[in-house]
Order: sequence, then structure tokens, then C-alpha cells
Amino acid sequence: GDARGGSWLSGLGARAAGSMALPLREYVEHGAGAGVTAGEAAAGWGRLRLRPHVLRDVTSVDPTVELLGCSSRVPWGVAPTSLQRAVHPDGELATARASAAAGAVMVVSSNAGSTFDDIAATGVTWWLQVYLPSDRTLAGPLLDRAVAAGATAVVLTVDTPVVATWHPSEALIWDLADPAWTRVNFDPGYDDQPGSEKALDLGPHDIDWLRERTGLPVVVKGVLRGDDARRCVQAGAAGVWVSTHGGRQLDRSLSTAAALPEVRRAVGADAEVYVDGGVRSGLDVVTALAAGADAVFVGRPVLHALVEGEAGVARWHAALLTETVEALRLAGCRTPADTRDLLADDADEGPY
Ligand code: FNR
Repeated sequence: GDARGGSWLSGLGARAAGSMALPLREYVEHGAGAGVTAGEAAAGWGRLRLRPHVLRDVTSVDPTVELLGCSSRVPWGVAPTSLQRAVHPDGELATARASAAAGAVMVVSSNAGSTFDDIAATGVTWWLQVYLPSDRTLAGPLLDRAVAAGATAVVLTVDTPVVATWHPSEALIWDLADPAWTRVNFDPGYDDQPGSEKALDLGPHDIDWLRERTGLPVVVKGVLRGDDARRCVQAGAAGVWVSTHGGRQLDRSLSTAAALPEVRRAVGADAEVYVDGGVRSGLDVVTALAAGADAVFVGRPVLHALVEGEAGVARWHAALLTETVEALRLAGCRTPADTRDLLADDADEGPY
């Protein structure tokens, strides 16, 4: 959270809310259940405390991180979100162009409304997000298309055995949505096939299967516990992504800020660890890095920025970079790796 008020980033959500049609706004902002987890996400970062270094030269700050062997110019990426073409006609392509220019990874939702080829043509480094269906073989064509179009990783979302019950008004957006805004990378009629519903029986073997099937590193999204994170790594995951799905799945899940340190301790250096949920400022980015993340991902603010198309998303990346560099300098850090011993609770344990 940004207590100063007034910055372009801190006012972004409120401005965007004012210019989104009501059902779209509710779809973007909603949390499952009573909205407890969605409501606590940003505050979670504000509860962590940092031990800054002083007397260290912070003249030149390099926010670059290496993610799954590719260089990312910033320690954040774009989380997968659907209905980007409902937010702006350019949809995923605007997000992709701005993220390519910023040197950030974009994770493309399997529900995207732009084709993998068009997204790839922007030059962005992109990862495919998938939900696996009951009949795993039905995922084949989508996976093949993504591999052919140059996805460099697969993100398996595991927190959605079922889609959590929505607030009644949110169903409206799907009635209003143009079919061209979603799921354009599936075969026509995909959802009518038996076995296409979301798998209720996902297990660690699916991580290995996805890796074999695509030849790409697999990241598991939606992990909130150290023991589950270990199981992912043992099954061959290259990354574990701490997420509550923006508070849109199990309400009363703990905040990702609270879950992250345990997951990092469980994973150690055996895999990369990412986090999303309520990251809104550069200080949030640096706090998440300090709490054990190799990178953070951001969902709703990208949609808020996308109201103004590619220029909006470009401005969002630039503003987050300015704030992140400022927070790194104030903490006495020149790189994301330098943040590893900042978390106050870790004082006795030292950096992992
Ligand atoms: C999402 N999220 C999501 N996750 C996923 O794995 N596949 C998806 O298609 C979507 N779609 C989606 C749509 C919208 C409108 C939102 C807001 C979120 C979850 C997303 O990737 C991410 O986990 C959260 O949004 C992160 O929290 P913040 O940054 O929105 O607070």
C-alpha cells in the first residue's frame, strides 16, 4: 500500500473503476465469498517489516532478474487475466507490446481473446497459463499451438478444481461478452466435448506430464503451503507461484505475503518462487523480493492501466520501475538479490 497518496500508480485503480462499465468492473474487482482474501491481499505487504542497509553505494541500480533462464529487465511480470479485449479493443496485444518494450514477461491466459501468434508477433517473452481438463488429451492442441508460437514456459493453475461461486451480477459480464474476446486459442466446440471440464483430480504427475508434453519448464500457480511447494519441486516444477488467484477462489485463504516466506524456505534454491496478489507499488515489489520471491506478478493493475491501451500499460511499467528503483535505493540494495536479507522476521535465519 502507498500511504502518500497522489501518485499515478496509487490512483490507478480508482480512476479505472470510474471508466469501466459496471459488470466489467465487478468482474475485474470481485473476490470470492465475502471477499476476505481479496480484501486483505494488499494489506499483507504492509504488515511485513524491512531492515534496510545503509552506507552502501546505490548509484547504479540494476533491477534485472533471470527467470527460467531468460533475462527480465524488471523483477515483475504480467499475471494471466481473461477478458482483456473487454477492457480495451487491443486487449492482450496492447499488454504484450507495452510489456515487450518494458522487458517484462507476460503470462497469457488460456482464456485469452488474442491468438498466440499475434501475441508472439509483438516480440514479448510470454508464458502460457493453463487449466487442465478432466481428459488431459483434450489440452493437446492448445499446448501444441503455444509451443509452436514460442511460449517459453507453461504455468499450471492448480487452485481451481472448481470455479468458486460468483456474485450473481458477475455472471452478467459473460452474457455481455463478445465470444471473440475469449478462448480464441481453443478449437471451436471445445467446451462441448465430454472431458473438457476442469480436472478435479490434478496431481503432481500432471506437472511431469506437462513438462514431457511441451518440453517447457512448468510453473505451478496457486501454491500457499511449504509442503505442497516441495511436492511440486519433487514432481519437476521449475517454479512455484504463490497465489490466491486474487482472492477469487478459496475465500479465507491466507494472504500471499504471509504464505511466501514458508514457501521459499521449503523450496530453497531448488526452484524459482513467484508471488502475486495485492502488489500495487514499488515498495510492495521490494517487500515481496525480500520475503523470498524471485519475481512478482500483477493482475488487476494491468487491467486498470489497459483502459488506456498500450500507452496506459507502458506508463504502468514505467511508474512501477521508478518506484522500485527508489525503494531499492532506500533499502541499500543495488539488485533484487540484495534484498534477500532485508526481512525483519528472517533476522535469525539469515538469507536462504
Ligand atoms: C485473474 N486470474 C487468472 N488466473 C489464471 O491463472 N488464469 C486466468 O485466466 C485468470 N483470469 C483472471 C481474470 C481477472 C479479471 C483477474 C482479476 C484475475 C488471477 C491472476 O492471474 C492473479 O493471480 C491475480 O489477479 C493477482 O492478484 P492482483 O494482482 O489482481 O491483486
